[in-house]
Amino acid sequence: MQYDFDVLIDRRDTDALKIDAMPAIWGRSDLMPLWVADMDFATPPFILNELRHRLEHEILGYTMRTSRWASSIVAWQQNRYGWSIQPEWLNFVPGIVPGIALIINCFTEPGDTILVQPPVYHPYFHVPQNLGRRLRENALDLVDGKFQIDFERFGRDVRGCKLFLLCHPHNPGGRVWTSDELRRMAEICHREGVIVVSDEIHADLTLPPFCHVPFAKVSEVAAECCITLMSPSKAFNMAGLTSSYSIISDEALRERFHRFLANSELHLGHAFAFNSVAAAYSHGTEWLEQMLAYVQGNIDYVEQFLASELPQIGMIRPQASYLIFLDCRKLGLSVQELNALFVDKARLALNDGAMFGKEGEGFMRLNVASPRSMIVEAMYRLKKALLA
Ligand SMILES: Cc1ncc(COP(=O)(O)O)c(C=O)c1O
Repeated sequence: MQYDFDVLIDRRDTDALKIDAMPAIWGRSDLMPLWVADMDFATPPFILNELRHRLEHEILGYTMRTSRWASSIVAWQQNRYGWSIQPEWLNFVPGIVPGIALIINCFTEPGDTILVQPPVYHPYFHVPQNLGRRLRENALDLVDGKFQIDFERFGRDVRGCKLFLLCHPHNPGGRVWTSDELRRMAEICHREGVIVVSDEIHADLTLPPFCHVPFAKVSEVAAECCITLMSPSKAFNMAGLTSSYSIISDEALRERFHRFLANSELHLGHAFAFNSVAAAYSHGTEWLEQMLAYVQGNIDYVEQFLASELPQIGMIRPQASYLIFLDCRKLGLSVQELNALFVDKARLALNDGAMFGKEGEGFMRLNVASPRSMIVEAMYRLKKALLA
């Protein structure tokens, strides 16, 4: 079946964060929303049909995990990543960020130190800090247009930390970490007794020819120190269903986290938590491949447009996902001036790179998971604003 990603869908009056939060942030609602990381494409019909089917039953009572949910995840991990996991390694978590907060509460104490790699997804800063944990930053290096880890510095920075929040693939840098890089991180973290929380929410959005390798798969020591968090929410545009899961192969880590979740009665999920995931993973391959090809087309378009029309703006080409980190440093603008250019002049709502850490200053994060016509219009608005 051929899916159509060119369709423009009006998201107003659907409580969409991307639209409804604009007045509070930018004081206006006339911006093209290319910020929050969800997609303007329809959630696939096989997921919507599953939910409709559930709604045909008139009782929305308590729910629990199903064997279909677990076996669909086991099969997805095996078929897509060659990772053999067991159903009992899985746990429902109500979203990845809430999952990170739960892991922090379960495995660390106030005052403990947590390692992050800026520029990085901003809740990695505020969730640990709001929970009274200290942050340590292991900044990534931008080398030849690609974010990289300085492993000597990483070895020093990890020391004394309790947890390491690994963004894999990396947002906003778009890096797909290689097996070799993951193995090195695992060796160091295992040696230092640090638990790695591998946030793999963008994994299914890895763009060919790059391949995602689950952190916990790369070595025995990686599996021993890792809690993996995953969800079909990004790749299948169902973030509003807050249905994610953890995979933990190490028995001691698993038992501790399972007990923690059960003690808070968080394991029951909700009426759409399990069927939606099973539908995505059971029927999603063809849709996902077409969607990723479309997104690659949008990335190509932006890359070519910038090269020919706006060479003063560069971009980090993502190896995964639909988020492009635009490098605006050559414009020589302050953070405020750069935001004024995008918001007031171009009428575009993007994420200011500075929100991902000071390493992101001078960058803007552009979400290209929208119909091509929107991306084309965004590029022309930007050009007009810059030339004005
Ligand atoms: C790296 C990363 N982790 C987690 C999330 C959000 O996950 P959730 O909505 O399940 O909390 C995002 C969303 O942009 C993300 O980019």
